[in-house]
This record gives sequence, C-alpha cells and structure tokens, in this order.
Amino acid sequence: MPSLVNPEVEMAVKGFILDQEKMAEVVERMTKEMKMGLAKDTHPRAVIKCFVTYVQDLPTGKERGKYLALDLGGSNFRVLLVTLNSDSDVETISKSFEFPKSLMSGSGKALFDFLAECLSEFCIENGVQDETLPLGFTFSFPCQQQGLSKGILVAWTKGFSCEGVVGKNVVTLLQEAIDRRGDVKINTVAILNDTVGTLMSCAHSHKNCRIGLIVGTGSNACYVEKTVNAECFEGYQTSPKPSMIINCEWGAFGDNGVLEFVRTSYDKVVDRITPNPGRQTFEKCISGMYMGELVRLVVIEMINKDVMFHGDKSQKIQKAWSFNSSYISDIESDPPGEYRSCNKVLNELGIIGSQESDKESLKLICEAVSSRSAKLCACGLVTIINKMNINEVVIGIDGSVYRFHPKYHEMLQFHMRKLLKPGVKFELVVSEDGSGKGAALVAATAVQNKPKI
Ligand code: BGC
Repeated sequence: MPSLVNPEVEMAVKGFILDQEKMAEVVERMTKEMKMGLAKDTHPRAVIKCFVTYVQDLPTGKERGKYLALDLGGSNFRVLLVTLNSDSDVETISKSFEFPKSLMSGSGKALFDFLAECLSEFCIENGVQDETLPLGFTFSFPCQQQGLSKGILVAWTKGFSCEGVVGKNVVTLLQEAIDRRGDVKINTVAILNDTVGTLMSCAHSHKNCRIGLIVGTGSNACYVEKTVNAECFEGYQTSPKPSMIINCEWGAFGDNGVLEFVRTSYDKVVDRITPNPGRQTFEKCISGMYMGELVRLVVIEMINKDVMFHGDKSQKIQKAWSFNSSYISDIESDPPGEYRSCNKVLNELGIIGSQESDKESLKLICEAVSSRSAKLCACGLVTIINKMNINEVVIGIDGSVYRFHPKYHEMLQFHMRKLLKPGVKFELVVSEDGSGKGAALVAATAVQNKPKI
C-alpha cells in the first residue's frame, strides 16, 4: 500500500532522524563533557556540571520517622507528609496546589511566600503545625550544592524566571518565607534534585538502583559515583563514605555548540521563544515542555505549504505552545489505521474535516520527535553506564513523557541495547514517588548524619 504521508512531510522530519553513527557520536561527546564537569579544574567551564549532591548514603531500609517534603519543579507544586514506618510500610499524605502561572516569572519573594503559605495550610490541615518536622525540599533546577541543606540556584529552567533567586541559597529563601509567616515550625534539612529523589526512592526497593532519570517537563539524570572521583567535593580523597550521588544536569549538554549536528531548524525556533535562549539545548530536544512545540512548528510549516489540513491557517494550532506534548502520547497510542485519540486531539485544536493522510502525516511527525527524544535519552544513559564501568544496573525513572508515551520505554531499551557493550545488563523501572518517599529518605540521611552536640 502506498504511504499516505505526504512526501513533503517525510522530507521535513528527516532532520530528526538519528542513525547509529550519530548516536555513537553523541555518546562520545557527552562522555567528554561529563568528565569536564566532574573534574575540579575543568568544572567552572563545563556545560554538563555534574554537581555534587552531598547524598552519600543509599537507603538501607532502616530509615524511620515522619518527614515533610516540598516538590517544586514541574507543572505543579506539592506538599507531602511521609512516614517511614518500616522498609515496606511508607505512608504518604500529599496535596497538590495549583501553581499560578504568574508566579513563574514574578519576584522570588512572591514565589517563596506562596510555597510557605501552601506548606502552612497543609501542616495545619494535617495537625502537625506544632511539631518541628525535618523537611526535604525537592527543588528541580540546577543548583550548586555546598552541603545537604545549602543549594545555590545557578539558572532557572523549564519556563521559570523569577527575579532575585539565581545566585542565592534557596533553602534560606524558603526558611525566611516560613519565618515571615511564623505559624509553622519547619527544619529544612535537605535540598535535593528530583532525579536524586527518584534514584533514592527506587533504591529503597531495588538494591541495584544506581541511576535516576527524569523525562517529564524537563530532563536530567543522576548517578552514584565513587567519592574519589567527585573532585568538586572538598573531602573527596578522605571521605569515609565510598559513594556520592552526582546530579549531572545533562539538560545543558550542547550549550557550547557540540550538539548542532543533531539540531534542526525547528529546535532553533523553539529555543528563541523560551525565556532561556541558548541554554538547556539537550533538554529542549528531549523533554515534554518542548516536544509538542516542535511538532507544532513542523505542522505549521506543512499548513503553510498547503500539504496538511487543506492549508487552513485559521485554527487554534497557529498559537505558540498550543500543541501539548501529551497529544504526542495520545496520537501515538492509536493502533495502525485507527484515529480515535488523534480525532480527539484534532477536535481540541478545532481542526475539522481532516483527511486520513493528514492524520498519518501528523503521526509521523509525532514519531519523529518522540523517537529522537528516546534516542538522545538512551545516549545519555549509556554515557553514564560506560562512565560507571559496571555490568549490571537498575535505572529508576519518572516523568510524564516516560510514563505516558506508549512506546518510550521500549524505544529507550532498544537503543540502549544497541549502544551498550555486549553483556551489560540494565533494567528500567518506574520510580514511584521520588519527591515524597525519595525526599524523606534523603532527609532521613541528613538527620542521621548530623553531628550530635
Ligand atoms: C532541571 C533539572 C531537573 C530536570 C527534570 C531540568 O530543567 O535543570 O534540575 O532535574 O529539569 O525536572
């Protein structure tokens, strides 16, 4: 049967195709950049920062107690109360708060006052306002950590741009906002990246988990490094603890131009309309915040060339960011030749009277964008596994793209197998509740390791 996809569409998506040779090149370049981030003398000019997290203990299963957790970094904000009763009994109460869009670009003070307000509301609702509970703050942005409870924001990502926060210790900003209210007692003992929470939560049930990955609104990974290689940690040569979790911040890979060979003209347009142009190059090729816009830009070009949707320029899809990345998962969920989810998406976008060839073209564009994302993620994971030089590993994963895309897991697995040395075994596991259980586990290690006076 001849393809229903218009040849113009096939041409347009060619730039998203990554063959084996290009993927191997990505791994090679990423390996170099990661080494630079880890080494003390090259760290200041490295783009993949490989930040030291000060988390040196993986869960033992013996952690106990009651912890609060905050989760800021994706599309919503959550407060959680986590009780670690035993290794198999973890109780979590959580509340999601609608995050006013205006706060993403307002003042830092307004942002932290909002967080403190939600925290206070949650504590009062759950009757813990008079207990001084330890809190783990999952803050999913690049931070230069100077201790378990000290993290300096290096740059905003994922559409955030609040003033007065970059260069500051976010734990202090949170604590000050809590103190300004004065109605709850909190002790912020740890700040952590979402990848670290994901790794810790997965390691609680899978003893061999050594990598945490997020493919959601943003993308990033962390892994367990030998402390002696974590040169940016002051005690790296003398620490009694053999391991250190490293927050790669791989989203910034390519910010120095080394990824131009995988970028398309559409990537460059997306980059220009973000609040952080020129930054987070790798993330912008991979994550949910940008995938939908990439698809939309190709579609618009095809409409303008009159090869899709009758060249009709009147629809909602003309508006930047109107094509949610979740639509990609929906469209790719339809079995071959069926268009139930696709029709729903088209309906939401106000596109009527489309033909089967339009739908097939749209699906091909979605597949081009999502498979490039999975291939790049596979390259990233393979870079980390090679660097760790291990033969067996479990990878804990979270994020909307990984969870909801119908083929992401398979694509990731397939391309990792092709890129890894033979004999290296890995397992990709959905990590449940990194920002709740994971944050509580990090807070527990912080409390345990505190010097007793
Ligand atoms: C942030 C990372 C985070 C990732 C996933 C990126 O934009 O820089 O810190 O882990 O998003 O949420």
